[in-house]
Amino acid sequence: MADRFSRRQFLITAGLAGLALKSPVLFANTSGSTALSPIMRRIPGTDESTPAIGMGTWITFNVGGDEQLIAQRIEVLKTFFELGGTVVDGSPMYGSAADVMGEALNALDGHDRIFAATKIWTGDESETRAEAARSSRRWGVDQFDLLQVHNLLGWQGHLETLKQMKANGEVRYIGITTSHGRRHREFAQIMEREPLDFVQLTYNVLDREVEDRLLPMAEERGIGVIVNRPFQGGSLFRRFQSEPLPDWAGEAGVGNWAEFFLKYIISHPAVTCAIPATSKVEHMKENMGALYGKLPDADQRQRMADYVRSL
Ligand SMILES: NC(=O)c1ccc[n+]([C@@H]2O[C@H](COP(=O)([O-])OP(=O)(O)OC[C@H]3O[C@@H](n4cnc5c(N)ncnc54)[C@H](OP(=O)(O)O)[C@@H]3O)[C@@H](O)[C@H]2O)c1
Repeated sequence: MADRFSRRQFLITAGLAGLALKSPVLFANTSGSTALSPIMRRIPGTDESTPAIGMGTWITFNVGGDEQLIAQRIEVLKTFFELGGTVVDGSPMYGSAADVMGEALNALDGHDRIFAATKIWTGDESETRAEAARSSRRWGVDQFDLLQVHNLLGWQGHLETLKQMKANGEVRYIGITTSHGRRHREFAQIMEREPLDFVQLTYNVLDREVEDRLLPMAEERGIGVIVNRPFQGGSLFRRFQSEPLPDWAGEAGVGNWAEFFLKYIISHPAVTCAIPATSKVEHMKENMGALYGKLPDADQRQRMADYVRSL
C-alpha cells in the first residue's frame, strides 16, 4: 500500500510539474505545498474522500475497435491519473466505452487507482445483477465502487436489488442519475425516501435549476452529488471561449475557461465531484487544473454566474 501511495504521489507530482507550466493560477500557487494537494470531497456519511474532478466517458471513449483512437484514450486516462483523478463514470449505454475503459485500465495497470462508477441501464428489472456482472467483465474490475440506475429506467426493481447488493458487499455505493433537467420532481421524491449514497445530475454555470431544490436536499440528506454535463456537452466552450475571462478571475482561482466552468460547480458545498468528458490530453490537463488551487467563495460564484449571463 505504501509503495502504491508513493508511486501515485510521484506520478501526481510529475504530472503537476507539467500542468503548472500551463496554468498561471496553479503556477502562482506552487510556492506552497497546497499546490500539490488535490481538492478532495468527503462522501457523505463516510470517512472516504474522492477528488472533486472525475471523468465521464460518454461519446469520448466510445471509439469501437480503432486501435489509434484507443491508444489516444489510454493517454487521456493516463493524464487523468497522473494529475490525481480517480472517479470515472460509464454506462452500458455508452457503446464500446466500457471495453475501451477495460483496455485502458489493463494498459495502465489502473485497477487499483480507479473509483469505478457505472450504471444499470435496462428496462428489465430482473437484470440488475446480470448487467452489473457484464459491466465488471468489460471494465475488468472485480466489482464497482458505485452502481447507479441510469435515468431512472426501471428504478424500483433495480434499486431494491442494488440495496441487497450493497448489504452483501457486492457494491460499495448506490445511486440514481438524471440529466438535462429531466424528471426532477420524481428524482426528488426518490431522494426523499430511498437510502441513496449518490445522485448524478446536470449542473453548470448556465443550467442552475438544481440549485433551487436538488442540491440543498442532497446536502441536507447526506447524499453525494456527481455532476454530469459540466460543459453542457461542450457548448459552453463554443459559446464563451472567444470571450475574455473577467479581470478578477485569478482572485477566484481561475486561469482559463475550463477552470471557470468546473470551479463554479465544485465550489458548491453539496457537490462531491464533476465528471467532464474529453477525448484530448490537452483538454484533460486544462480540466484537471480545476482540481488544484483556490476555489471561488459565495460572492465570487455569484459574480461568475452574472458574468456569463452578461456576455
Ligand atoms: N443521464 C446520465 O447519467 C448522463 C447524461 C449525460 C452525461 N453523463 C455523464 O457525464 C459525462 C459528462 O457529460 P458530457 O460528456 O455529456 O458533456 P461535457 O463533459 O459537459 O462536455 C464534453 C465535451 O466538452 C469538450 N471538452 C472537454 N474539455 C474541454 C476543454 N478543456 N476545452 C474545450 N472543450 C472541452 C469535449 O470535447 P473534446 O473531446 O474535444 O475535449 C466534449 O465534446 C458523460 O461523459 C457521462 O459520463 C451522464
